[in-house]
Amino acid sequence: MINLSVTLSNVRLQNPVIAASGCFGYGEEFRDFYDINLLGAFSCKGTTLHPRFGNPTPRIAETNGGMINSVGLQNPGIEAVTATELPRLFAHYQQPLLANISGFSREEYTACCEQISAIDGVSIVELNISCPNVHGGGMSFGADAACAAAVTAACKAVCKKPLYVKLSPNVTNIAEIAKAVEAAGADGLSLINTLLAMRINTKTRKPILANTFGGLSGPAIFPVALRMVYQVYDAVKIPIIGLGGVSSAGDVIEMMMAGASAVQVGAATLTDPFACKKIIDALPETLQTLGIEDINEIIGAAH
Ligand SMILES: Cc1cc2nc3c(=O)[nH]c(=O)nc-3n(C[C@H](O)[C@H](O)[C@H](O)COP(=O)(O)O)c2cc1C
Repeated sequence: MINLSVTLSNVRLQNPVIAASGCFGYGEEFRDFYDINLLGAFSCKGTTLHPRFGNPTPRIAETNGGMINSVGLQNPGIEAVTATELPRLFAHYQQPLLANISGFSREEYTACCEQISAIDGVSIVELNISCPNVHGGGMSFGADAACAAAVTAACKAVCKKPLYVKLSPNVTNIAEIAKAVEAAGADGLSLINTLLAMRINTKTRKPILANTFGGLSGPAIFPVALRMVYQVYDAVKIPIIGLGGVSSAGDVIEMMMAGASAVQVGAATLTDPFACKKIIDALPETLQTLGIEDINEIIGAAH
């Protein structure tokens, strides 16, 4: 019997496959497809203090091997998530939940973190620091080590659960940001978020996305994500959740060999709602073919 279970800061996952934020809603839509209790965990849609309608449309552009989105953190806000979305989820979901939160100021982040981390079914808070800081000229919190560390420390001070910081790949030196966030008290890291990208409609000669730019995800970014997980593993001691373009059991194994303790699956679910289930189903045989009995033995094996 091959062991698939892993732990993230004392939170046990029955397998390392986590549905990524923004690609699994609050779980409800996927109940029609399969029992989502077979997941290792899932990360809910990025939740903010106030409801957000998101960016104007069009906000999705397809590209070879991936997609670009500028959804803009559409979500019903923390009150509705607490009162409606999470109780509905917990009525049928018993596996760990990562509460993914976002903000546009340090105060918004901390208020959201304090509230959501107090909820019983929330196992880990995942802090998405790819958002623009309205008090910092709109530059993303995750683009600057000092800014990333400051928001991490502020959230850590009020967080009642392990705090995982989700890093932006749109930086020159990801290891430097990872180290700053670790020193500020993060219990773990998730990486990567989407890569800044665009497409142009050659007939209209205008950007396809109403927002001009968006975030690239999907198989096209897998080698970039893998490289960043590999670099960050060498730089920090806290656990890493690897993501970016993962779409097969082989990708999960590669990501873990680079240094991830668990793996998230995002855009793959948007092309095939069964993606996470298929990956979980394929893992034992794929590991067996490689002579691996315990998935934990491969974490960081490529170093
Ligand atoms: C439509 C869409 C919405 C997303 N929304 C969020 C979000 O709310 N919070 C977040 O941290 N990441 C969000 N992401 C980023 C994903 O969680 C993931 O980091 C990224 O897409 C790379 O992984 P993938 O290639 O497997 O999709 C979103 C991605 C997509 C495609």
